[in-house]
Amino acid sequence: MTTMSKKADERAPAAGRVALITGGAGGIGRALVEAFVEAGATVVAVDAHDVDSGSGSSDRLVWRRTDVSSPDEIGSLIDAVVREFGRLDIVINNAGVAHVDPLGAIDFGRWAELMAVNVTGAVACADAAAPHMMRAGWGRIINLSSVWSLVGAQTYSAYGASKAAIRQLTKIWAAELAPYGVTVNSICPGWVKTPLLSRFVDRLAALHRQPVENVLREVLHLVPQKRFLDPAEIAHAALFLASDMAQGITGTDLVIDAGMSSTLPDGLFTRPVRGDVDYSKIKSEIYGEGLQSDQEASK
Ligand SMILES: NC(=O)c1ccc[n+]([C@@H]2O[C@H](COP(=O)([O-])OP(=O)(O)OC[C@H]3O[C@@H](n4cnc5c(N)ncnc54)[C@H](O)[C@@H]3O)[C@@H](O)[C@H]2O)c1
Repeated sequence: MTTMSKKADERAPAAGRVALITGGAGGIGRALVEAFVEAGATVVAVDAHDVDSGSGSSDRLVWRRTDVSSPDEIGSLIDAVVREFGRLDIVINNAGVAHVDPLGAIDFGRWAELMAVNVTGAVACADAAAPHMMRAGWGRIINLSSVWSLVGAQTYSAYGASKAAIRQLTKIWAAELAPYGVTVNSICPGWVKTPLLSRFVDRLAALHRQPVENVLREVLHLVPQKRFLDPAEIAHAALFLASDMAQGITGTDLVIDAGMSSTLPDGLFTRPVRGDVDYSKIKSEIYGEGLQSDQEASK
């Protein structure tokens, strides 16, 4: 390593930190792994699948095949990380699964599997990591929630509930760990370009028997910026939350959704109204029989 690059490393926001990133082989996970390695951290990337094809090669990156839904496996892994690297500063609970079931047809086997990964997995990592962070007097826990924890999307019972649990756990852990210099925050992404997104679009296309282009148009109709997010946008936000600059930020949810949850669907105020609804009846309910709207009164 040259003197220049060593200096650059020392200035990097995560230089000298040891970070554990779950779901590292997935779409957002790979971006997180790349960003934290680039920012100078030693990264332990964890995934239940696909660790052999895990991206990136660096002497500060190791891959571990571990199932986050097993608290025993996670406990052993975190003990081993601390033995090997002497510390664990940052945990990013990113591993997650998604599926949909309409009410009346909830598959409770799949419900339990999803909760085991999305909720128990995050709890297992935080539970095993917290004592090391408390002893060190510094730490960061970043939980991947979702915009679907903020708004109720049809058929998302399990996923939405799991991500809402993550937001609440974020606040509970933030309060519990605040005296020890450890911050805990959640990131709530909207639609990010990952394999999870393409599976979702395929399902909608099959459900509505529509070409994918039509589904994309409908989906992006809800997004003011008219685009899907890049995984790197999530990773850079996580990098900021993990930095010393964000010491005062704890117990918060950072929504990164290209504007989706901040407004109503595009066109509500500019599109022609539908013709198959009895608007005169609705109008009289609002204004009262015989009363006029301001528009009529000014004629
Ligand atoms: N992509 C999006 O639009 C989006 C939006 C909001 C929130 N999120 C959340 O971001 C996180 C990452 O999502 P993604 O889009 O990168 O998904 P992804 O499917 O590309 O990656 C998820 C990764 O988690 C791993 N994983 C699953 N079960 C595991 C287990 N038991 N133990 C260890 N690893 C396991 C998978 O193997 C996969 O590599 C998830 O928590 C997801 O819910 C994604």
